[in-house]
Amino acid sequence: MAEDRRPHLVVFTGSGISAESGIQTFRAGDGLWADHPLEEVATPEAWRRDPRRVLAFYNMRRTQVRRARPNAAHKALAALEKSGFRVSIITQNIDDLHERAGSRNVLHLHGEILKARSTVDARMQYRLPRGGIELGDICDKGSQLRPDVVWFGESVPHFSEACKTVAEADLLLVVGTSLAVMPAASLLDHAPLEAPCVLVDPEAEVLSPPGVARLSQTAGKGVPRLVRYWKREGRLWIPETLMA
Ligand code: APR
Repeated sequence: MAEDRRPHLVVFTGSGISAESGIQTFRAGDGLWADHPLEEVATPEAWRRDPRRVLAFYNMRRTQVRRARPNAAHKALAALEKSGFRVSIITQNIDDLHERAGSRNVLHLHGEILKARSTVDARMQYRLPRGGIELGDICDKGSQLRPDVVWFGESVPHFSEACKTVAEADLLLVVGTSLAVMPAASLLDHAPLEAPCVLVDPEAEVLSPPGVARLSQTAGKGVPRLVRYWKREGRLWIPETLMA
């Protein structure tokens, strides 16, 4: 296959990109982990101890995701791809808002809430177009279904694929993540030295990852602004005047 020589934007997103769609982030004072301690709902130990509680948590989140709609940030990224840029999205999010906005090249590092999977064979996955997962819902091998999400303490199956993608970036755009969770946050270290990197996040100044330009705005404002520049000029760059 011929090499794709178009400018390659790699986008790494976190829950902040979906905040303006009404999906809660995790670590804010009113974030998800404040009301639902992660040790009780998002670890293999929690699943063994109280699967009913874990399923209820993800059933609640699935309902939240189905109600949400892509926002201006998701849409701008999809429009950039449609206009001819090569756009690869690596998301920590388990929602499907990038896909619903029209992005075609999306890698879910932490899984997908709209899928269930077998507890004995991770390859056995099932779409969940409606409803949730209950105790007693089983896979074709007869074992309990669980959400197809990566819990704390579990390995991240698509991590090496994500590293390869980041290593091919002409520009790395990071949106709405506190960069608190490994190995996901270490993806930034895989970008080529010559590829500029920019973080769009209202807390960008505080997070201030080394060597990363900062645009301290919400995703819904900052991402469409950057995309407008790129589309206008037909190249990927970081306009100095926008940065914090
Ligand atoms: N636009 C952009 N960013 C925003 C917005 C917004 N409207 N609102 C909040 N943010 C930013 C916050 O400033 C914060 O930096 O989103 C980030 C959310 O950080 P976290 O709550 O830590 O979420 P995230 O980085 O996505 O977490 C990573 O941790 O718990 C796990 O598996 C979970 O995938 C998740 C991972």
